[in-house]
Formats: sequence, structure tokens, C-alpha cells
Amino acid sequence: MQKLIFGPLKVKILNLYFAVLILSIISCSKKNHAVTPGNNTQNPPPAVVSAPLKDKALFEIGAAVTVAHLKEPDFANTFKTNFNQLSAEYEMKMKQIWTSATTYSFDGPDYLVNFAAQNSMKVHGHTLLWYKSFPDWFINAAYDSLNFENNVKAYIQTVVGRYKGKIRSWDVANEIFADDGSLRIDASVYKTFKDPIGFYERCFQYARDTDPDAKLFYNDYDQVLNSAKRSSLKKMVERFRKEGYPIDGIGDQFHTTVWTDKATINIGLTDLASTGLLIHISELDIRVNQNKSDSYVFTDAEQQKQANMYKAIVEMYEALPQAQKFAITVWGITDKYSWLLSWWSPKEYPLLFNGDYSKKKAYEGFLSGLK
Ligand code: XIL
Repeated sequence: MQKLIFGPLKVKILNLYFAVLILSIISCSKKNHAVTPGNNTQNPPPAVVSAPLKDKALFEIGAAVTVAHLKEPDFANTFKTNFNQLSAEYEMKMKQIWTSATTYSFDGPDYLVNFAAQNSMKVHGHTLLWYKSFPDWFINAAYDSLNFENNVKAYIQTVVGRYKGKIRSWDVANEIFADDGSLRIDASVYKTFKDPIGFYERCFQYARDTDPDAKLFYNDYDQVLNSAKRSSLKKMVERFRKEGYPIDGIGDQFHTTVWTDKATINIGLTDLASTGLLIHISELDIRVNQNKSDSYVFTDAEQQKQANMYKAIVEMYEALPQAQKFAITVWGITDKYSWLLSWWSPKEYPLLFNGDYSKKKAYEGFLSGLK
């Protein structure tokens, strides 16, 4: 009799015990990066466990990569463990893909898209139109506006069409504004079209018609910091809306520094978000060597300064409306391969991982900035 009553009760208690156990495992592993020591002083405090960025964030965490680097196991593993979105550092640019008016080279982009699919990552396409990446054969052809646009339209349809459903978002245009907010006069689009913005509107439309599900972005640097540029961008967005052309998001590259004023970033970022569009921090890296000095030493204090800046930027991004947070993408993984080594200073340390793929303080800063 006792057994009969105790039997089901025991089962229930056991069930409850397991349910509580499972729930606490789930809640610890999902969005919780640090296990805080409990009150029980008899047990040693649990180690602080760093979750990968991608597991803590409620939006995508991307990195720019190249095919050659992905073939290095340490690089590929670090990428897979910590990130869930891929941008091509250069292999999806027009110059790389469009080899002649009728030929395309898709080896690089195919490799990247397959790598992402095999590792459950999203892909952000960077970039369909950029004044720096029109191929020489195209520039030399000196097309009139009609032929220029027909060729570009074919390019957009071919590239966006090939990756329909596989590339979830595209930078349709990159860096069309100069630093004073005017249109770049050195760009071939500017030279060819009386109304360059009208041309860009139609390009966004070609991309939309080809893959209606892909999110379409305008990407540029310093829109957050430079109010002249930002106001030109906002005017462009208004015009797109008024005239019924598609645009889903704005990417700000965020190639920034530890000496950049945080309050200015915050004002600009908030203002950018006032458009209501998705916001992508699309190429984040944080320079530390202000004077490009060859004798610069990346001391503990400098590392901490950089970590604080990563944290501050992530926190400001987190403060945006949840629905507008698209992704934060860093422009590379390890300091040893950063583009800034050649573009800024060989003594530069802008990313989240050291040359041996150990995590920098910057990584912990980024992680602690996430909600
Ligand atoms: C850079 C790449 O990192 C380099 O490897 C390449 O040689 C030149 O372009 N803004 C952009 C990116 O939109 O495409 C640039 O990437 C960095 C600046």
C-alpha cells in the first residue's frame, strides 16, 4: 500500500527534479555568459565562462573573411565558434566577379556561400556597387548612361539571382557620398548620370525584383560621425520612400578608433536609427595607434582602452530599438590579417583576436556590452 502511494509520488518528484535541472541548464547555456558564484561558500566559485559572441547576442554577429583564410583551420574554427554571419572581405566585389561584359568568376563567392551554409551562418553580400570596384574593362568601355545601366542591371540580376535565398542581405551601394555630403565626383556613376540618385534607386529596384526576400542596404563610413554625410543619406532615404523605391537598411562601416568621441557616436547612431531602417554596424574595427608610430606598444592599458571602446559601441547599438538591430560585423578576425596593417600602420591591433587566435580584452569588452 505504502509502495503504491509512494511510487507515483516519487516519479512526480523525480520528473520535477529533472525538469528544474534541464531548465537551469538551458538558461545557463543560452544567453548567459558568466556564471556568478552562489552563496554556498562550501563549494569553490564556478569559473567564469565566456560564451561565444554569437550565442549571447540577439542579433547576428558577423566577420569579414577571405577564402584563403578560411582554408586555415585555426582561422576557420575561430570564425565558426564565435560568429554566425559572413561578409566577404573582397571576393564579392564587382572587380573580382565581373571579368568581362559576358563572363563572371564565381569561385570565391561560391566557396564563401557554401562555407556559410555548411556552418549554419547567414551571408551578407558586400557589395554590388562601389566606385572603387568597377572593373577596368567596364571603365574603359566608357558606356553612355543607357548601356551603363543595362550592363549594371544584368550584373545585379546575375549575381543576386545566383544567390537568391542564400545571401540574405546585400549592400547595393557603397560610399556614394563624399565627406562634405555631396555626391562623389570621382565616381563613374556621377560622371555618367545627370541624376545619380535616380540610378541608385533603380539599382535597388533591380535587386528587389531579383530576390524579393533579400534585405537591401546602403553602406558607407562615418555617417554616424559626420552630420553632413548623414543628412545627405537621410534625404536620399526620404526620396526613395517618396518615389516608392526599396531600401531596408543602412550599414555604417565603423572603422573607428579609441580616441573617437563616444557622445558623438551616440548622437549619430540614434539619429541614423530615426530613419526606422535596419542598422548594420558593418565593418567594425578599432584602431589604437593614433600617430601610426613604429614604436607603438600595445600595453595592457591600451588593450583595456580598446576593450572599453568595443563595450561602449556595443552598448550604444544595444540601446537601439530591438527590431532595427540587424547585425554587428567586425572587419576581420585576427589582428595579424587586418587590412589596417597595410592601410594604416603595421603596428595596429584593431580586432578581437590575437595573432595566435587567443581572445583579446577587446573580445571580453564586446561580450560584456551585449545585453
Ligand atoms: C577593403 C578590404 O579589407 C581590403 O582587403 C581591400 O583590398 C580593399 O577593401 N570600406 C569597405 C570595404 O567598404 O570594402 C573595404 O575593404 C574597407 C573600407
